[in-house]
Amino acid sequence: LLPIGLMALLLSGCGIPELSALQPRGEGAEMQLEIIKLSLWVMLFVLAIVAVIYVYVLMKFRRKSGDNTVPKQVEGNHTLEIIWTVIPILLLVVLAVPTIKTTVELADAKEAKKNEQINVTANLYWWEFEYPDKGVSTGQELVIPVGKRVAVNLTSKDVIHSFWVPALSGKTDTNPGLDNEMWLQAQEAGTYYGKCAELCGPSHALMDFKVIALEQDDYDAWLKDMKTAKEAETKQLDAKNEKNWTTGEQVYAQNCLSCHGGGKVAPSLTNFGDRQRIAGYLDHDKENLENWIRDPQKEKQGTKMPGFSEDQISDEELSELADYLLDKKLQ
Ligand code: CUA
Repeated sequence: LLPIGLMALLLSGCGIPELSALQPRGEGAEMQLEIIKLSLWVMLFVLAIVAVIYVYVLMKFRRKSGDNTVPKQVEGNHTLEIIWTVIPILLLVVLAVPTIKTTVELADAKEAKKNEQINVTANLYWWEFEYPDKGVSTGQELVIPVGKRVAVNLTSKDVIHSFWVPALSGKTDTNPGLDNEMWLQAQEAGTYYGKCAELCGPSHALMDFKVIALEQDDYDAWLKDMKTAKEAETKQLDAKNEKNWTTGEQVYAQNCLSCHGGGKVAPSLTNFGDRQRIAGYLDHDKENLENWIRDPQKEKQGTKMPGFSEDQISDEELSELADYLLDKKLQ
């Protein structure tokens, strides 16, 4: 009872609706929950029958006092063997048919492509989200329109990761050199938590991301604002404009832009001020940001981002840089 009680206590902590496959907020997660329920019923059915037979046999065939005779010895029973072979086969078929049907449907993104195509690339330890038809790309926070299935194309830059948004759908592996397809749909506007679900290195547990579902109008506006902001950023940070730069812009252009500018080597920071987290999981405030820039390895072991010592960026410059980054908002 003690281990069962402890497990129940631990499992009761899994009730975050934004991160629960048992509280679906999207069609994909709903379909998966149906499979979970079906397998649970099958397991309970098997458990009940085995438990009843077990108790019945214990009672019926127990040794009575004074009875020292040897019971009838049985070696094999064809009828029984056929029964306990056929029943599990039938149960596996009952499980397999809807599982295969759902698996195929969840991976079929043909229709969803008409709504939106999003390319997801997993990296040690961050996520890139690209909207190829819109010329927009962002990191760590995937924005989707509410109510519609959007096609998600998954791949990886380095090792195998896995894309999982428990309340919406997944998990689907991201493999280097291979594309996997799925679709996402959220029934309500809101933020859903995503996780890397494949052990990929020391900071695997910190490879979090968010899926933000917006109403269609807000979504269209977001795409437009992202494009405008990226163009304005590129123009402003052009070396020809250097004499007009603020200290923050200067430190950013000289230290950060070469990796963060294209959004392929490191996450795009175009809308960094709007993010809910730093590096996917730290509270979004200036202190965390400064600590992160000084020593990213301390916060996220194995990250590719180098730290910046006081010789490279002084305390005053770091403060200006942090202000500049936190101010990079779309609105
Ligand atoms: Cu990426 Cu675990």
